[in-house]
Amino acid sequence: MKHPLTRSACAARDAADPLAPLRGQFDLPPGVIYLDGNSLGVLPAATAERVRQVITDEWGRGLIRSWNDAAWIDLPRRVGDKIARLVGARAGELVVADSTSVNLYKVLSAALRIAQEQPDARARKVVLSERSNFPTDLYIAQSLVEQRGMRLELLDIDQIPQRLGEDVAVLMLTQVNYRTGRMADMAALTAQAHAAGALALWDLAHSAGAVPVDLHGADADFAVGCGYKYLNGGPGAPAFCWVHPRHVDRFRQPLSGWMGHAAPFVFQPGYEPAPGIARYLCGTPPVLGMAALECGVDTVLAAEALGGMPALRAKSVELGELFIDLVRERLAGSGLRPFGPEQAARRGSQVSLAVPADGSIDGYALMQALIEGGVIGDYRAGDGSAEHPHLLRFGFTPLYLRFVDVFDAVQRLAELLESGAWREARFARKAAVT
Ligand SMILES: Cc1ncc(COP(=O)(O)O)c(C=O)c1O
Repeated sequence: MKHPLTRSACAARDAADPLAPLRGQFDLPPGVIYLDGNSLGVLPAATAERVRQVITDEWGRGLIRSWNDAAWIDLPRRVGDKIARLVGARAGELVVADSTSVNLYKVLSAALRIAQEQPDARARKVVLSERSNFPTDLYIAQSLVEQRGMRLELLDIDQIPQRLGEDVAVLMLTQVNYRTGRMADMAALTAQAHAAGALALWDLAHSAGAVPVDLHGADADFAVGCGYKYLNGGPGAPAFCWVHPRHVDRFRQPLSGWMGHAAPFVFQPGYEPAPGIARYLCGTPPVLGMAALECGVDTVLAAEALGGMPALRAKSVELGELFIDLVRERLAGSGLRPFGPEQAARRGSQVSLAVPADGSIDGYALMQALIEGGVIGDYRAGDGSAEHPHLLRFGFTPLYLRFVDVFDAVQRLAELLESGAWREARFARKAAVT
C-alpha cells in the first residue's frame, strides 16, 4: 500500500506501529534524529544502570569473586547465545570476544587451514571477496594470504558466482555492503561456493540485529559480526564469531590464548584447545563492555514478543522506502540520488545517497551541516566517480525510529540544500572520524 508522503500520514503510521513501544527502551537525546545506528547504535536506557551495577556492586564489592559469583566468566557464551537467536545459530555455537577484525583473523585462519587439508589444497590459492567489502576485512585477508603464499582476489559482487572455481579456497563476504546497503544472497552464494569446493565466510556487521539471518539455513561455514552497530552494545563493544559445528573442532584458531584453553585454570604450559566454539576465545573478556553489549542485545530480543526479526525487517523496509520516496520527491534536481539496490528485498537496513560526480556538492560538508541541525547520518568517501561515488549514509533502525523522523530528516536535508548553508567553510573541515 502506498502511503501519502505527508507528515500527518507519517504520524498516523507511527500511531499504528506495533513496534512503537520499543523506542522506550532507549535513551535518545531530545531533538536528535539518529540515522547512524548502522555505525554506532544508540544508548539503551538500561545500560547505564547495569554498567553502574557491574562497576559498583560486582567489581567494587564483589571484587575478584565476581568472576564466579556474578558469572562474569560465562559472559562470552551467555551473550553469545542471545546473539545466536538473531542469526540462525544454535545455543553454544557463538561466542562474544575481541573485535570483528580479530575474530575475522581467527575464522579466516581456520578456514584457510581447513581448505589446506583438502586433497586438492595445492590448487586452492585464492580468497575471493568483494572489491567494496569493508576495508578491515580486506586488510586482515591480505595479511593472511601473504603469510600463506596465497592471494586475495577482489571482484564486483555480481562477478563472484562465475569466478568461483577450483582455485578458490574461501569466499569471504559481508552480507550487507557497508557502502551501498546491498544485501547479498547468503544461501545462494554459500551454495555456489560449496559447489565449487570453497568455504563461505560471512561478516554480519551490518546484518546482525538488522535483517533476518539464518546461518544454518544458508549452511554457512564461518561468521563474524559487530556488537556496536545494530546490537546497540556501545562504542567499541566486543564482537562475535560463529563456526559451523562441522568445522569447529577441526582446527585451533591461531590466537591460542588461555581463555580458549580446555582448562584455563589448570595453568598447564601446553596449549590444548577447548572443545567447541570456546576455543575461539583468546584473552580475558572485557566485562564492562560485555555487560553493556548484553543490554543492547536485549533491546533487539525485546522485539521477539512483537513479531521478532520479521516484524523489525518489515518496518525497516518501510522506513527505507519512505526515505527513498521522499528523497525522490523533495530532492529531485539536487543532484543527490539513491545509490544501491532498487528493490527493498535486496537492501539491508540503510540507504545511501550518492553525491554528484561533478563536485557540485561536498558530501562531507553537507553531512556535517545536517548533523549540526540534529539529523545524524554519516559520510563515506568513494573516489568521486559515478560508479564509486562519495556517499551520505542513512541507517534505519526500526527499534527506535519513527516514520516522522524520516520525514523530518528529508525535510532538513531539503532545507539545507535550498539555503546552501552547508557551504560555510567550517563544515568542510575534516574531523579525525568521519
Ligand atoms: C563490515 C564491517 N566489518 C567490520 C567492521 C569493524 O570491525 P572492528 O569491530 O574490528 O572495528 C566494520 C565497521 O564498520 C564493518 O562495517
